[in-house]
Amino acid sequence: MIPGDGKVAVNNQGSVVKPYVMSHGTLECYSLKQSRKFYEEFLGLECVRHAKPAMVVRCGLKFHIVCVEVGDAVHPTNVLNHWGVDVRSKAEVDNAHKAANEMKEKYGIRQVLPVQNMHGVYSFYLEDCDHNWWEIQCYDGYQHDDMYDFGDRFSMDDGADPRSLKELEIKTSN
Ligand SMILES: [Fe+2]
Repeated sequence: MIPGDGKVAVNNQGSVVKPYVMSHGTLECYSLKQSRKFYEEFLGLECVRHAKPAMVVRCGLKFHIVCVEVGDAVHPTNVLNHWGVDVRSKAEVDNAHKAANEMKEKYGIRQVLPVQNMHGVYSFYLEDCDHNWWEIQCYDGYQHDDMYDFGDRFSMDDGADPRSLKELEIKTSN
């Protein structure tokens, strides 16, 4: 499903910083133990606790998220700060949606939004016990390649029109 070896050419000779890779992101959790269970058992992500306060999480690519236990200092995020995972069929999205609703209590899932079909992506969002948001999606093809192969579809002078984003109406749960 992932084309080639997942590597892309880097063309940043003109920038101040000249990274060779974007390696990781970060998120916060209340409890590594509790969140690891959800990541491994529900989301199917591979976790390694490389440090006392943190573990790394990955799936499919040599890119990882560092999950840091901060206890009650968690900063809740909203739906447009989400991480996406891709499954192979719409039926898998539907099954995950059903399972998320059934396993809400087991994993402390706070919200499961309806399945939607938008711009060729069939998906739903859920808010986990740490107020982190996940999108479980199915795309016909490999979305990353399609977006970069197509290139810019709008000029940077075009307005973004954020008021039309219905995701901004979704509130993080308490
Ligand atoms: Fe997304």
